[in-house]
Amino acid sequence: MKTAHFILVFCLLALASPFAYASDPSPLQDFCVAINDPKDAVFVNGKFCKDPKLAKAQDFYYSGLNIPRNTSNPVGSTVTPVNVAQIPGLNTLGISLVRIDYAPNGGLNPPHTHPRATEILVVVEGTLYVGFVTSNTDNRLITKVLYPGDVFVFPIGLIHFQFNVGKTNAVAFAALSSQNPGVITVANAVFGSNPPSNTDVLVKAFQLDKNVHTFRACTSIMMKRLQLFVAAFAILAFSSLLASASDPSPLQDFCVAVNDTKNGVFVNGKFCKDPKLANAEDFFYSGLNIPRNTSNPVGSTVTPVNVAQIPGLNTLGISLVRIDYAPYGGLNPPHTHPRATEILVVLEGTLYVGFVTSNTDNRLITKVLNPGDVFVFPVGLIHFQFNIGNTKAVAFAGLSSQNPGVITIANAVFGPNPPINPDVLTKAFQLDKNIVTYLQSKFWSDNN
Ligand SMILES: *[C@@H]1O[C@H](CO)[C@@H](O)[C@H](O)[C@H]1NC(C)=O
Ligand SMILES: *[C@@H]1O[C@H](CO)[C@@H](O)[C@H](O)[C@H]1NC(C)=O
Ligand SMILES: *[C@@H]1O[C@H](CO)[C@@H](O)[C@H](O)[C@H]1NC(C)=O
Repeated sequence: MKTAHFILVFCLLALASPFAYASDPSPLQDFCVAINDPKDAVFVNGKFCKDPKLAKAQDFYYSGLNIPRNTSNPVGSTVTPVNVAQIPGLNTLGISLVRIDYAPNGGLNPPHTHPRATEILVVVEGTLYVGFVTSNTDNRLITKVLYPGDVFVFPIGLIHFQFNVGKTNAVAFAALSSQNPGVITVANAVFGSNPPSNTDVLVKAFQLDKNVHTFRACTSIMMKRLQLFVAAFAILAFSSLLASASDPSPLQDFCVAVNDTKNGVFVNGKFCKDPKLANAEDFFYSGLNIPRNTSNPVGSTVTPVNVAQIPGLNTLGISLVRIDYAPYGGLNPPHTHPRATEILVVLEGTLYVGFVTSNTDNRLITKVLNPGDVFVFPVGLIHFQFNIGNTKAVAFAGLSSQNPGVITIANAVFGPNPPINPDVLTKAFQLDKNIVTYLQSKFWSDNN
């Protein structure tokens, strides 16, 4: 009966889809925890969904992202993905996370694309030289040197790389705007495919002498060295490998937000800067390494990095936050992001976190998180994080919108201007009217 009820609700939601799709893409349900077996399940977005009543905190959870990975491999870097394959609860939610470890003196995350995702990366340790190449016919290389706390954006589908130019290990976390972003490592896809690409095709595409086709065998060695790397990169920049998928697309490389209409085009509520005038600063933010002051009534501070801080995020559907929590009870109070799913990784401390499913279940799903643990808060659902440790806590979180929005429940209900009629709140919360007027008289501060 429960399954039948779910299917009924699902059918109603499916019928409502033409209206729901008016704005951002929506999963049309709280979540769809991926399972392999169609028993008791509904088929959505390429995966079967688990019956929502059977979903548990474990479905939204991953641990171990605090562990440094072994970078002894030909390129000197290791990517640890946390997507729908690791967290089945990410299915349909349009976001994922990676940790990237880079060896000292030249660890390279080689030129690659994510066909279905924009990436927003924050450096935690080390010094990275990063860049991406715009599509044809410009093929402009936009680069930047990043230090801890720096944030950089790689627009969807564009070829990009990170290179450790420091003498120490480097570590970065990055959020990607798909639960299954895909990776195409350019050198491997071009020179290492199975079966191999026709040599004549490669000779013509890369305008190489046919004798140089042994180039293929040398690719992995070559990629270790900076000078040759730059040469290879310049060649690759001229190839057009950009995949466009069926996901919502910005329909251009990027649309750097500007305030004024001069030389601009109106897209998604913002004007775009002329792409030829875009530079690395448009995709960059610094300072996310700095602990924030949490001396406020809730004991937490959210530092957002969205389209307001990085104009290059406009239309790209992703953003990042740092959250600092005071020891002994720092709280990121119950709130929703109307336009984004959130994927959070704990760097320091111990957090008790949770979210509540929508009516009529209103089920609370909670988990205690330690460093390296990852948890997902599905789009639009009320959620919170609470520091239950005796030290401060720090987390980074990716959000699947360049402008996710925040609705802090207590502030929206008891603190709006002008206030909501107390009779409405008295009835809605079944409270004594004196309590409602007391709550309405309080000052509700934001932590973001
Ligand atoms: C890292 O991997 C290499 C090659 O697989 C191995 O020889 C080495 O012992 C590993 N190092 C650590 C610290 O595990
Ligand atoms: C847009 O205008 C606001 C307010 O005048 C200003 O603070 C902001 O820096 C401007 N943004 C850009 C990208 O020019
Ligand atoms: C943090 O903010 C509080 C209140 O605004 C202030 O009194 C305190 O000095 C600040 N602490 C630091 C370390 O800046």
